[in-house]
Amino acid sequence: MSNTPALVDKFGRKVEYVRLSVTDRCDFRCVYCMAEEMTFLPRNQILSLEELYRVARVFVQLGVKKIRLTGGEPLVRRDILKLVEKLGQLPGLEQLVLTTNGSRLAQMAQPLKAAGVKRLNISLDSLDPDKFRELTRTGDLQQVLNGVAAAQQAGFKHTKLNAVILKGRNDDEILPLVDFARAQEVDLTFIEEMPLGQISEHGRQECFIPSHEIRDIIAGRHELIPSLENSGGPARYYHFRDSDSRIGFISPHSHNFCGDCNRVRVTVEGRLLLCLGNEHSADLRDVLRSSEDDAVLRQAIIAAMDLKPERHHFNLEDEPQIVRFMNMTGG
Ligand code: 5AD
Ligand code: SF4
Repeated sequence: MSNTPALVDKFGRKVEYVRLSVTDRCDFRCVYCMAEEMTFLPRNQILSLEELYRVARVFVQLGVKKIRLTGGEPLVRRDILKLVEKLGQLPGLEQLVLTTNGSRLAQMAQPLKAAGVKRLNISLDSLDPDKFRELTRTGDLQQVLNGVAAAQQAGFKHTKLNAVILKGRNDDEILPLVDFARAQEVDLTFIEEMPLGQISEHGRQECFIPSHEIRDIIAGRHELIPSLENSGGPARYYHFRDSDSRIGFISPHSHNFCGDCNRVRVTVEGRLLLCLGNEHSADLRDVLRSSEDDAVLRQAIIAAMDLKPERHHFNLEDEPQIVRFMNMTGG
């Protein structure tokens, strides 16, 4: 389409990036993300692969240039490659990227690359098999390391590792993770834990480590040079003199990055979330299922932009105001 109408919110922010959750399910049960026993959505409540494609296509018609597939764990969705292959051919979509826990990458890295996925984010919170198992409750470290190796072998560039650090759990893994990232020549981002969903396993306050503490630990070992470039996202980056790896920090608590937020999320139920830290949303599933006309869907998405709040307010002291778990949100 020429004359692409841009999605712009009330604060003048242009939305060009959609994070699309393709499943709420996951083969892991990370302690900061899920409760041990989770109930997942029944099939009729989640968008079909065709509906997911339609949502993506309409967003791209509206000027979206980047789509990230997330979950849950996106690679546990049956036939996910079929969707990836179609998205890989979608004209106007410049960047198709994916966030994964890595458990299935050993088999899927190659086909994902061939289908047109440009970059991967791989979650990795520990390099110690026992600690990894404790944090993910069900995960097998070796499988994920094989996945990282497969991604490298498939030719993925600028792969990013994501780590959530919890005090007393994996804070001694910070430097090993940094060394691993440097050895693999990949980027590594530390994400502060966000109070999404009610978890009983640990007190979020007791385990919380602010980004600057992590940065100080790394700086005790390696000189960290602040990056001037702005990735357009919430991460602040540092680089090394002696390595191409970059270290990023996402600090939703201590650093307000809402001003240049360019993204929205779509849950697998088809709920368009305008902000990670707020409940403002629009029900796209209803629109998808009540009309075949893409113009109606386009209009619903354009109208929803007015709901995008100016900023989020995460607060560790209160009960979580956001009852969604991360797997329902689309990490
Ligand atoms: N706070 C911060 N990060 C989280 N993730 C999942 N739940 C949370 C949370 N409550 C992270 C995962 C993964 C990414 C998709 O989101 O570790 O790296
Ligand atoms: Fe699964 Fe990711 Fe949640 Fe861990 S953080 S349980 S890998 S969705």
